Amino acid sequence: MEKNITFDYQRAEEFIKSHELDYLEPYLLQAQEVLHRLEGPGREYAGWVDWPLKYNREEFERIKAAGERIRERAEVLVVIGIGGSYLGARAALELLTHTFYNRLSREERGGPEIYFAGFNMSPIYLEHLLEVIGEKDIWVNVVSKSGTTLEPALAFRVFRDLIEKRRGKEGARERIIATTDKSRGALKKLAEEEGYETFTVPDEVGGRYSLLTPVGLLPIAAGGIDLDKLMAGAEKAYHLCSKKSLAENPSCQYAAIRNLMYRKGKIIELLVSYEPSFYYFTEWWKQLFGESEGKDKKGIFPAGMNFTTDLHSLGQYIQDGYRNLFATTLQVEKPPVDREIFKLQEDMDGLNYLAGKTFHQVNQKAWEGTVMAHTEGGVPNLTLTLPEITPYYFGQLIYFFEKACGLSGYLLGVNPFDQPGVEAYKKNMFRLLGKP
Ligand code: PA5
Repeated sequence: MEKNITFDYQRAEEFIKSHELDYLEPYLLQAQEVLHRLEGPGREYAGWVDWPLKYNREEFERIKAAGERIRERAEVLVVIGIGGSYLGARAALELLTHTFYNRLSREERGGPEIYFAGFNMSPIYLEHLLEVIGEKDIWVNVVSKSGTTLEPALAFRVFRDLIEKRRGKEGARERIIATTDKSRGALKKLAEEEGYETFTVPDEVGGRYSLLTPVGLLPIAAGGIDLDKLMAGAEKAYHLCSKKSLAENPSCQYAAIRNLMYRKGKIIELLVSYEPSFYYFTEWWKQLFGESEGKDKKGIFPAGMNFTTDLHSLGQYIQDGYRNLFATTLQVEKPPVDREIFKLQEDMDGLNYLAGKTFHQVNQKAWEGTVMAHTEGGVPNLTLTLPEITPYYFGQLIYFFEKACGLSGYLLGVNPFDQPGVEAYKKNMFRLLGKP
């Protein structure tokens, strides 16, 4: 039987009093009502709230079919997008496929090599990517809701041109799939004119909440990940995270504790993982919370951490530096693979005391030791545990964080679904570039 992801704040209890949570509960439940009834700030972009129940099944089947087609026919898939139009797919692919996916043989992968482009404007990245791809048959999924974001638009210009030169217009039509607004924007217009297959970024779902829509799902399907299980996990989390009591609702608990931490001056949250395959998951989470909460001169600053790696670089600060931090750890009960440490005849490296233990068990002890040390050092620790790394639990994880983020925004008194601040640099850049 499938289990559920679990949220645990025992290791932060010494930093809060239980009545503080009791006092917050009515506000949280009210925020939840407002969110579900689409009555709060940014309500026009809160369509993700019941998305796991109401997503378009017909389009979902079309995504799976397109994913299969890409897996069978493409040698390389380039996913072009930035921010909310890229991080979710990358998070899923990095977590749920092999760590060295692109280095495996085609038989082992069962699909194309997958690369990302259009999430920066670096000529070095672009040229090196083109070099690595070489003469291989390229398919593209270009993802942009507005269809006008500079980074993906520039990368798409390059890849479209390359495919057309190699395969002609007809070949490009087969190989380019656009995920964009249902009716507006330059990309929609181009896709219509060129006859590309298109998928829709729903009007009612903002970029950073769009992983469970075609934005994330098509590249994820092309990576061979089971979308039915992923959506089933999200639906399960919808039900868990809609419960009307703090004691039963993990998203409400996480939102409540974060808010208490913030009120106590803990203005930086570290999302910690002991598995490097969570790296892009933490990038996705950083955007979700940073762009949702960081406004009106308020908000918790989200920082991603990879332990034990970063304990050897940032560990000193976390243990001993300015005391404005709290940490949330992503834990995995059972990794997909593990390795037992063997005994040496002569204990030359002094590690025989670990013989018989597995790498995962050692990693777990590192976590326990770190949490003890950090708690003593004044860094409260929250834990989110996944039974395993599977599409089902990934779906739960995504919905858990999205829901907690919406609630956190309302508790903080901000609109968690807009991002007015992102425009400031663009205005300057376009002026400097002489955009007409
Ligand atoms: O969350 C957001 O709204 C942003 O990160 C956008 O997703 C990002 O800027 C990309 O925008 P677009 O999909 O319009 O190209």
